[in-house]
Amino acid sequence: MQTIRGFRDILPERISLWQKVETEATKLFKAFGFKEIRIPVLEKTGLFARSIGEATDIVEKEMYTFADRKGDKLTLRPEATASIARSYIQHKMYAKDPVRKFFMIGPMFRRERPQKGRYRQFYQIDAEVFGVESAYIDCQLILLLNELFKRLGLKGLFAHINSLGCPSCRPSFQKELLDFIESKKDRLCENCIRRIDKNPLRILDCKVKDCRKALKDAPSTLDLLCKDCDDHFNTVKKTLEKQGIDFIVDKSLVRGLDYYTRTAWEIQTTSLGAQSAVAGGGRYDGLVKELGGPQTPGIGFAIGFDRLVEVMEQINKAPEDPPLELFIVSLGDAAMEKGYHWSCELNQAGIRTEIDFRRKSMKALMKRANKLNARYVLIAGDNELNENAILLRNMDTKKQSSLAMETLVPELIKIFKK
Ligand code: HAM
Repeated sequence: MQTIRGFRDILPERISLWQKVETEATKLFKAFGFKEIRIPVLEKTGLFARSIGEATDIVEKEMYTFADRKGDKLTLRPEATASIARSYIQHKMYAKDPVRKFFMIGPMFRRERPQKGRYRQFYQIDAEVFGVESAYIDCQLILLLNELFKRLGLKGLFAHINSLGCPSCRPSFQKELLDFIESKKDRLCENCIRRIDKNPLRILDCKVKDCRKALKDAPSTLDLLCKDCDDHFNTVKKTLEKQGIDFIVDKSLVRGLDYYTRTAWEIQTTSLGAQSAVAGGGRYDGLVKELGGPQTPGIGFAIGFDRLVEVMEQINKAPEDPPLELFIVSLGDAAMEKGYHWSCELNQAGIRTEIDFRRKSMKALMKRANKLNARYVLIAGDNELNENAILLRNMDTKKQSSLAMETLVPELIKIFKK
């Protein structure tokens, strides 16, 4: 049996970088006032269709959707924003305090063509803020991302930012864009033609080479922002500059999800080939209302956890597990029983101890102790039990001492807790 295409195991020898990222991210989120939220992996399909947008790649062709036994249409979450907004509304969190900051870490599912950095089950580290319209929060989220990447020792990442406007300036932009697209229609792919009526902004995001060429001089949202959106974006840029955060304004950045308004950004790297976005985010001031809640601004980002780890693996060796403190060599039934209890007590005291329950020879067990890189080996056979002198061997210095059984566990704890 094999994993499904695009799904993979993260094996124990690769897990330490994942854990390091989770620890750093959680620490930082807490310092910035974020609270962890856990949301279901499965939601009603309508939630994603309505928030991400019917005419997006995700909803049109990438979601894992199926009917359950009662015929309800369900989808494995392709992202977290929609679910967190749903939760904010469902639990009326806005009533007590509309300003909420959440983070979550977990798997997402998109049926994309698998390649390096792109999987069908992948992980995101997601952050969302509700109830804050100020541009300072946009900057704070970009700063948070920057700080996390700095702490993880990453270099060569760059923030691309854009403003996608709001419902008051979007229509005039869309009109200009449609006029432009009409003049290039014969050079666009089938997908783009289909999107002219449904969602013209998405056309700017098309990855087909000929489309990209044809759209090179397409109008930019930035030229047509209303005064409020323009002021907002200017504050974002000015503040990021003041904070020394490198960014470039990228007018071709439209993002792959429809809920965005105003600031949108991606953190990109050149070290992962085609999959250059390590994180993406933006503002979604209309989403909570669209999903049935009160008008509430929202903003957030998601880090592609798999991609982040892949970038880290290029520069870092995975931190090694701490060495095994003690390996117990038990020879014979009586020693095995004693060894079992000692190992449990030492494990409970937090000491990394292993015992091998297979009936192997002394030579084979010592070989295993070496393989596991044990600092000490405890040797107990019939002789040692009879003489109440259990051997403790330091594997570095090869020095041996003997321990009495009654005080063996506290003595060992003393040695290892030093
Ligand atoms: P997104 O840009 O679709 O945004 O995904 C965020 C990040 O997830 C991407 O930059 C990428 O690193 C990673 N990612 C996406 N698809 C895959 C894949 N198939 N394999 C591996 N990594 C992948 C969102 O999901 C938004 N919900 C972000 C957001 C939060 N916006 C506001 N709040």
